[in-house]
Amino acid sequence: MSIPTEQEVSALLGGITEPDLRRGLNELNLVRGIEIDGSTIEVTVAVTGPGPHLPKYFDEVIPSKLIGVFPDVTEVTVHTVELDEQERAALVGGIKKDTPGLLGRSDTHTQVIAIGSGKGGVGKSTTTVNIAASLVKQGHSVGLLDADVWGFSIPRMLGIHEKPRVVDDMIIPPEMFGVKIVSIGLFTTEDNPVVWRGPMLHKALQQFLEDVHWDEPDYLLVDLPPGTGDVSISIAQFLPGASMVVVTTPQQVAEKVAQRAGFMAEKTGLKVAGVIENMSYFRGDDGVVYKIFGEGGGRNLATTLNVPLLGEIPIEPRLTEFADIGAPIVLQHPECEAAGALDGVAKELVNILPPKPRSAKRISLPLLGGH
Ligand SMILES: Nc1ncnc2c1ncn2[C@@H]1O[C@H](COP(=O)(O)OP(=O)(O)O)[C@@H](O)[C@H]1O
Ligand SMILES: [Mg+2]
Repeated sequence: MSIPTEQEVSALLGGITEPDLRRGLNELNLVRGIEIDGSTIEVTVAVTGPGPHLPKYFDEVIPSKLIGVFPDVTEVTVHTVELDEQERAALVGGIKKDTPGLLGRSDTHTQVIAIGSGKGGVGKSTTTVNIAASLVKQGHSVGLLDADVWGFSIPRMLGIHEKPRVVDDMIIPPEMFGVKIVSIGLFTTEDNPVVWRGPMLHKALQQFLEDVHWDEPDYLLVDLPPGTGDVSISIAQFLPGASMVVVTTPQQVAEKVAQRAGFMAEKTGLKVAGVIENMSYFRGDDGVVYKIFGEGGGRNLATTLNVPLLGEIPIEPRLTEFADIGAPIVLQHPECEAAGALDGVAKELVNILPPKPRSAKRISLPLLGGH
């Protein structure tokens, strides 16, 4: 009979990722016992908190890692034990030491791009979500912070309803199509809006950058509130080196408002990197192009701000389908013209703001002793 050794089992379990913290089980030292008895293996793994989602995950993934690999192993049983408060704090402390939050760091690997606009309704959130998905498609790791305090829409767009999980004092961002997402809307309800006052807002944003387990992605996109104001100032202050992209429509009026947003951003310390023109035109089935909202706004704004025009996105009714299909158009209908334009914008952004090199290799986490 070919029975594996404990070391062999342990090595395979090390290939499993803890789904919230996104580190290997061995790295986190969460495997607390391996018992091999003939054709049966019992594994005990520690989970970070109550609730069924982690036990359920390990119940599926651990047997699937072991059965079939060792021909004579026919049964794998998984037990879970919950970390106590002290162990949780040590675990989170280790991760934070290893990958500090983004707050106030100019040496971070993450390229931060705030997406702003002069006014609401120009498609800022729609473009942000699609750029995020497109960056993932290109192989980058991406976080998305919905900082549009009064008009947050990302959770509704993407059908995220649950509050993020918290381990010790670390907020675990929910993930959709590979993008880690945190919205101010996840901490308030639509029928009970929070009246954000300046200092409170500043504090909330600070917490999102400090306590959220972003895990230092290649890109962090920040959906700003329209116009100019407190949020941009806080973001510029918290994230030295952040850039901004301004979304506008082809209309001249829209362009003027957007221009103000662009100039103000520069004043607060956000470097404007480019302009996106949205709702540029509509192409009918017959191929005829209709410039419904006028023409030239994006290009003029780019010239005034002396930055590149990153793309012109056509009007595409299917861009609103998020909530129904749960995926942005660049994933759902990548062949359509609007998706092509959005992918183009993401590529331009990568050209202008390439991912920064990663600093030193991650050190192994000095965590509590396991089994
Ligand atoms: N290119 C587009 N074609 C068609 N509809 C669009 C386009 N861009 C945005 N929309 C729609 O316009 C509305 C406003 O977009 P949204 O992204 O919420 O704007 P903002 O975040 O600037 O307020 C939404 O209903 C969205 O689906
Ligand atoms: Mg919005």
